[in-house]
Amino acid sequence: MKPIIVALTCLAATVAAQSSPPWYDVQSSAFRLILKSDNDTYDGHALGACHQGAAVEGLCLTGDTIDDPAVSYTTFYHNVSSSENATVNANDTLGVLNYILTIGGGINVPSAMKFSQSPGSNIADPIFSPGWDDFTPIAFDEECGSAYIPIYQDDTVSPPSYYNPTLKLKNWYICLTRFSYLYTTLVYKFGVTGEPQNPTCVAVEVVRVWV
Ligand SMILES: *[C@@H]1O[C@H](CO)[C@@H](O)[C@H](O)[C@H]1NC(C)=O
Ligand SMILES: *[C@@H]1O[C@H](CO)[C@@H](O)[C@H](O)[C@H]1NC(C)=O
Ligand SMILES: *[C@@H]1O[C@H](CO)[C@@H](O)[C@H](O)[C@H]1NC(C)=O
Ligand SMILES: *[C@@H]1O[C@H](CO)[C@@H](O)[C@H](O)[C@H]1NC(C)=O
Repeated sequence: MKPIIVALTCLAATVAAQSSPPWYDVQSSAFRLILKSDNDTYDGHALGACHQGAAVEGLCLTGDTIDDPAVSYTTFYHNVSSSENATVNANDTLGVLNYILTIGGGINVPSAMKFSQSPGSNIADPIFSPGWDDFTPIAFDEECGSAYIPIYQDDTVSPPSYYNPTLKLKNWYICLTRFSYLYTTLVYKFGVTGEPQNPTCVAVEVVRVWV
C-alpha cells in the first residue's frame, strides 16, 4: 500500500464490542474528517490515512483543506448497529470509524479504527487495521458533526459516580508522534482533566463533512 500523507465551530454535526451482524452493519455515507481549531495552521484541514505499517494506517494532517475535493485517503465511513435501531448517518450514536484501504490488484480491505496507547504516554494514536474485530467506537454530535467519545463514569470524585447527562469528551489534538514514523497526526488524550504530556499537541475538533 502507499497512502500518502499527508493531516472549533460547526462546519456545515452503548459499547458493544462485537463485530458480526447485526452489530455495526449500517454503513454511513462517505465523509471527510475536517479539523476545527483556533490554530490557523490546522483549521479547515482534512485528515488523511497515512502509512504506519503493513496495511496499517494512522490519521495524519494533510495539506488538503475543506475546499479541496475528497480523495481516497481522506474518505471515511462510520458503521452503526441495526440491532440498536440506528439509522444510516445517525447522530450521537456509537459506531466504528472505518477506512477502505485499496491494496495491489484493486482489492479493497475494510479497516477499523482502534486507539493504540503506550503506558508511557497519556495520548493514544487512532490506528486503522484490516478487519472489524478490534475497534474503539466513537460518535458524532448532532450540533456540528463533531467527533466525541461518550463517558459514563466520573472517577474524579469519591466514590466514582455517573455523568448525567453523559459527557461528550472531545479530547482531540494534532501532535508530532512516532507510532512508526515521525508524523503530524491526530491523537486522543485520555482522562477528563489535564493536558497531553506531548509538548507539540494543539487542540482541535474533528468534524465529519459529507462527501
Ligand atoms: C444529524 O444531524 C444533522 C444536523 O446536524 C441533521 O441535518 C441530520 O438529519 C441528522 N441525521 C440523522 C440521521 O438524523
Ligand atoms: C459496515 O457496513 C457495511 C455495509 O452494510 C458492511 O458490509 C460491513 O460489514 C459493516 N461493517 C461491520 C463491522 O459490520
Ligand atoms: C499553531 O500550530 C503550529 C504548529 O504546531 C505552532 O507552531 C504554532 O505555534 C501554533 N500557533 C498558535 C497560535 O498556537
Ligand atoms: C428496536 O426496535 C424494536 C421494534 O420497535 C424494539 O422492539 C426494540 O426494543 C428496539 N431496540 C432498541 C435497542 O431500541
